[in-house]
Amino acid sequence: MMKKALLMLAAAASVTALFAADTPKTNLGKLYEKDFLIGVALNQRITSQQDKQRAELAASQFNCLTPENCMKWDATEPQEGKFNFGPGDDLVKYAQKNKIKIHGHTLIWHSQTPQWVFQGENGQPATRELVLKRMKNHIEGVMKHYKGKVDAWDVVNEAFNEDGTLRNSRWKQIVGDDFIEKAFEFARAADPSAKLVYNDYNAYNPSKRDGIAKLAKELKKKGLIDAVGMQAHYLIDYPSTKLIEDAIKKYADAGVMVMVTEMDVDVLPRSNGRVTADISATQEYQEKNNPYTKGLPDDVSKKLADRYEDIFKVFLKHSKNMYSVTVWGLDDGTSWLNGFPVRGRTNHPLLFDRQLKQKPCYDALVKLKQQQGLRK
Ligand code: G3I
Repeated sequence: MMKKALLMLAAAASVTALFAADTPKTNLGKLYEKDFLIGVALNQRITSQQDKQRAELAASQFNCLTPENCMKWDATEPQEGKFNFGPGDDLVKYAQKNKIKIHGHTLIWHSQTPQWVFQGENGQPATRELVLKRMKNHIEGVMKHYKGKVDAWDVVNEAFNEDGTLRNSRWKQIVGDDFIEKAFEFARAADPSAKLVYNDYNAYNPSKRDGIAKLAKELKKKGLIDAVGMQAHYLIDYPSTKLIEDAIKKYADAGVMVMVTEMDVDVLPRSNGRVTADISATQEYQEKNNPYTKGLPDDVSKKLADRYEDIFKVFLKHSKNMYSVTVWGLDDGTSWLNGFPVRGRTNHPLLFDRQLKQKPCYDALVKLKQQQGLRK
């Protein structure tokens, strides 16, 4: 009996040892505090503090956080007028306890929006007036609830095509091209103290970038926008740092701040080489496209560290125009990229590994900043 108990204790201790990775002594947010906020997207298990270990690690490293899903429309207003703020309130509690700013995500998007938003009477599509009324009610409902608690909001998410035209979403079809401006108007009125953001992926792509910059300039003239969010779902070798830098300059020239809102670096091959974060662009599982199931080989890990470092050099160079840099997930085990664009892969895109241990890419960011400090 005694032996069995001892064995169980030993097993429990080894599991703890496996997961109790040493918390890094550095606090990334603090290290970069004079440059920009360092943020992280967190899932609901973490922000409700069920996943205590991750909640503690995140609080020890980051000074900004984005809800990965719990402030999207399908979560906050699943039925018309019936708001559900439970998970978002848990997140606010966690953020306030740890003095972390909140980047709200997201108010108006073509995805994760319930069907009823676009439905009218007798199975007909809703009219422009009805959809605008629902848009206003949603933005007001959510933003007023979190007034003074959420620092910045992604007001409109992913409204552009790659060629710089507007995506043919239900929003555009029913309301028309001015749905974006309307959303920003409602948002500005709902919480004048919140920073308002237009957020998109592939925001480095010149044709898409120019479309976004034009919009930003127009909205800025009307006092309706504060920042463009460059999602930054990158690949290990694409896009070039030149494309990233050109985009930052372009948005800065449009008169808005840049927020890097969803950074990760996919290390796995994609069968069609496409760079996208369009969640409908899934691909078939192929063994050859999942080569690192047993861990990331040292040479790839080094390549990933160099990639993070090169990109952060650009961010630091333009820090006066950058408000925040947020990674899309705390650790490789909780990254959306294990399921996209192919389900069931073992990806390694973030700063912490599956055992929550800091990776060489984390160390590279620490070293980069420390070296910069020495040069000053
Ligand atoms: O809600 C169900 C839940 O009831 C169920 O238990 C669970 C089990 O599979 O699935 C839950 O829904 C999932 C949801 O995440 C919450 O975990 C959805 O199936 C899944 O599709 C959803 O994925 C999210 C995705 O957005 C959906 O659009 C990812 O976690 C999230 O990382 C991802 O984030 C987006 C940004 O919002 C916008 N930019 C691109 C980025 C990556 O796609």
